[in-house]
Amino acid sequence: MLKENVAKVLSDQINAEFYSAYLYLAMSAWADQTGFKGFANWLRIQAKEEMAHGTHIYEFLLDRDYLPEFDAVKKPEGSWKNLVEVYEHVLKHERYVTERIDNIATVSMKESDHASYNFIMWYVNEQVEEEATANEILTKLKLIGDNVSQIYTLDTEFASRTFTDPFANASTT
Ligand code: FEO
Repeated sequence: MLKENVAKVLSDQINAEFYSAYLYLAMSAWADQTGFKGFANWLRIQAKEEMAHGTHIYEFLLDRDYLPEFDAVKKPEGSWKNLVEVYEHVLKHERYVTERIDNIATVSMKESDHASYNFIMWYVNEQVEEEATANEILTKLKLIGDNVSQIYTLDTEFASRTFTDPFANASTT
């Protein structure tokens, strides 16, 4: 039986994942409108991954016989000065998500909820990747600076990113 405090932090995380999707979709729209179609594609795929995360947590809660709660999704920001600012925001946001995930792991551990702890460990590892990727792109963008041709080389690279469902071959655990 899922303890109420574990269920609550997991349920809240569904909302947080969908907010992440909203934020990255807003960034994607901005990038598209600004002329960076490849970055727009990268961010749109990022949004899809966040929706997959949210749905995965939702399925876990249902499997554990808990009815998830659906709060309103906060409105994301809609514009950024440049791509460096976008990826500074991505990195800051992923660091915030890591804190939330770590808290879920801590609450699960304190309650000796091994199934929830095991479940959330996938996200603990995923956050290492999420932060590393955002940091890598941000570092590149800072190095490139105002070099338009190099920005467009990166844009072309990101245009080829495709979506792979991270849970395509997995159950909820
Ligand atoms: Fe759902 Fe970007 O972490």
